[in-house]
Amino acid sequence: MTQISNPEDIIQMKDVSLYQNDFQVLRDVNLKLKEGEFAYIIGKTGSGKSTLLKSLYGALPIISGDAHVAGFDLKKIKTSNLYTLRRSLGIVFQDFQLLTDRSVLKNLEFVLRATGITNKADISMRISNVLTMVNMNDKGYKMPHQLSGGEQQRIVIARALLNRPKLILADEPTGNLDPDTSDEIMKLLIHINKNHNTAILMATHNYQLIERYPFRLIKVSGGKVIDEDTYFS
Ligand SMILES: Nc1ncnc2c1ncn2[C@@H]1O[C@H](COP(=O)(O)OP(=O)(O)O)[C@@H](O)[C@H]1O
Ligand SMILES: [Mg+2]
Repeated sequence: MTQISNPEDIIQMKDVSLYQNDFQVLRDVNLKLKEGEFAYIIGKTGSGKSTLLKSLYGALPIISGDAHVAGFDLKKIKTSNLYTLRRSLGIVFQDFQLLTDRSVLKNLEFVLRATGITNKADISMRISNVLTMVNMNDKGYKMPHQLSGGEQQRIVIARALLNRPKLILADEPTGNLDPDTSDEIMKLLIHINKNHNTAILMATHNYQLIERYPFRLIKVSGGKVIDEDTYFS
């Protein structure tokens, strides 16, 4: 019998099909990610990498099959409860989506307040902790446009860490960065993975990074997820 509720797996998908509108993007997805594991999702543009990640943070419904993420049953979760799922995850996209009208500190405070944390001491402690983790402690007063692309992505990662997630979903987090900056961001993600035991599932088509930092590869191709189950490290 297939176990669906192994607590050591932070992601469990069983026979899942995923649709964008009425179009089936992926079928028969079977995927597990362990706590603290790092895995890449690779595949051509349009293959379904983002679709897979979206389903995991509840932005696409699970119509057939079963999916559990961080203890949440995605099939049963109600729209009104999606925020509790998202509070348990760290989400990082390719395009830095910081609010451009306010400072880094205000960006981070906004997220905490939106998730119900209103105690001032708690807010400043959490913000200071995440800025330290991404080595940006002296940049809190800057506006987003005063930061480089790599610095903005560090802040986006800091924001993803605010709620101390056990899983980070990253959709092409280095897609808009030059090679050196991509390398820095990658090192930061690996550091977080190793030091905080945060599982990371990262979609990318940057094969240089994959070669330099080899982890398990999950390939999306031909409407299917092919788990190469390759552990290099
Ligand atoms: N909002 C959408 N509405 C309709 N089709 C979509 C939407 N988003 C993505 N698709 C389609 O789903 C497929 C997978 O897209 P996506 O998951 O974005 O691929 P990837 O991230 O690998 O580039 C593509 O054929 C794409 O055109
Ligand atoms: Mg994509």
